Amino acid sequence: MNKISEEWLQCKLRKIKSFTKYVRPESVLDTVLGTGMEAEKVIKLNQNENLFLSRDFLHSLLNEVINEVDLRLYPKEGETELKDALGKYVGLPSDCVILGNGSDQIIDLIVRSFLGKGDIAISIKPTYSMYKWSVNHIGVKYFEVPLKEDFSLDVDSILELAKSNKGICFICSPNNPTGNQFKLEDVKAIVDSFPGLVLVDEAYVEFAKDSLVRFVKNYENLVVTRTFSKAFGLAGLRVGYALSNSEISNTIFEYAQLPYSLNCIGLKLALKVLTEIDKFKKSVEELKEEREKLTERLNSIKDVRAFKSDANFILFQSLKLYEKVFNELFNKGLLVRKIGKVLNFDGCLRVTVGLPYMNNRLVEILASISE
Ligand SMILES: Cc1ncc(COP(=O)(O)O)c(C=O)c1O
Repeated sequence: MNKISEEWLQCKLRKIKSFTKYVRPESVLDTVLGTGMEAEKVIKLNQNENLFLSRDFLHSLLNEVINEVDLRLYPKEGETELKDALGKYVGLPSDCVILGNGSDQIIDLIVRSFLGKGDIAISIKPTYSMYKWSVNHIGVKYFEVPLKEDFSLDVDSILELAKSNKGICFICSPNNPTGNQFKLEDVKAIVDSFPGLVLVDEAYVEFAKDSLVRFVKNYENLVVTRTFSKAFGLAGLRVGYALSNSEISNTIFEYAQLPYSLNCIGLKLALKVLTEIDKFKKSVEELKEEREKLTERLNSIKDVRAFKSDANFILFQSLKLYEKVFNELFNKGLLVRKIGKVLNFDGCLRVTVGLPYMNNRLVEILASISE
């Protein structure tokens, strides 16, 4: 490579390195390497995956799909079928549906499509990190409005900040990492008055009580993103979708989304989920029951405070040094997520609601640390 092109390349790489880095959470393999434990013994509760669905059940659906797909063909029909089925599932016309390679990819697509010079992005604090990550990549200003002490939305401050600026407002509900779903009227108040697009991230909505989807057709500026990674157990396949009025979704689909952003297996398996939806709903009900039990059990441990959740994870505060708590759990093969300070609550960690034996282990280790 000549000197000029090398300088050009280095300059580009420096620019890329100025973006926010995404640090991937620990994997089962990291734990195996770090502890010497066998992979089967590791309990992975750090990414809000759904462990209530058995691998065998999902594999049986995958086997059916493998027999149905023709890998030689681009998956155009699969897209149309899934959009139709999702439209029926949520009660909207199929042209209100945008498909994406996980909801993260749709969030990134919306950011890149709608934000430009002079726009701003607003979100809440704390919340899901990918909004900031995507916004940072296009050099747009990102403002964070802290939640109120009870984890509710500070609607007035969000709207005050937006007064003289247009852009995107991100509301994650149920919110990651706090776990609570915001009041519908608060989110609607923001959608009503925000001078720009409001993206409501409903990645965990199946574990909560309500949804904003039925209001999508009443608003020009509302996009709701959802995923098959959480309640439907397909995190490994990367299937996400968004709902908005058909003008936004058609424009995004036709002009901004990469063609065939989902593969034929993901498309067909997501379709299977919708045809077998009762089995998935049953597992969500089981998880919710376990979530309530786990919250109560965590709260009964000395020096631990668990917050009420409407999602498939629980945020909890540990009055012991939270790094020590994390390490102690890690060394015993149990992965949780370090969150740190949330508003005035120091030392917070987030844990996915696992199967009863996993939660028993978590409670047992935390109780032993508290002694
Ligand atoms: C709030 C929230 N939105 C979106 C996502 C990403 O989901 P997907 O797997 O569909 O990209 C996550 C994943 O953890 C999440 O917590």
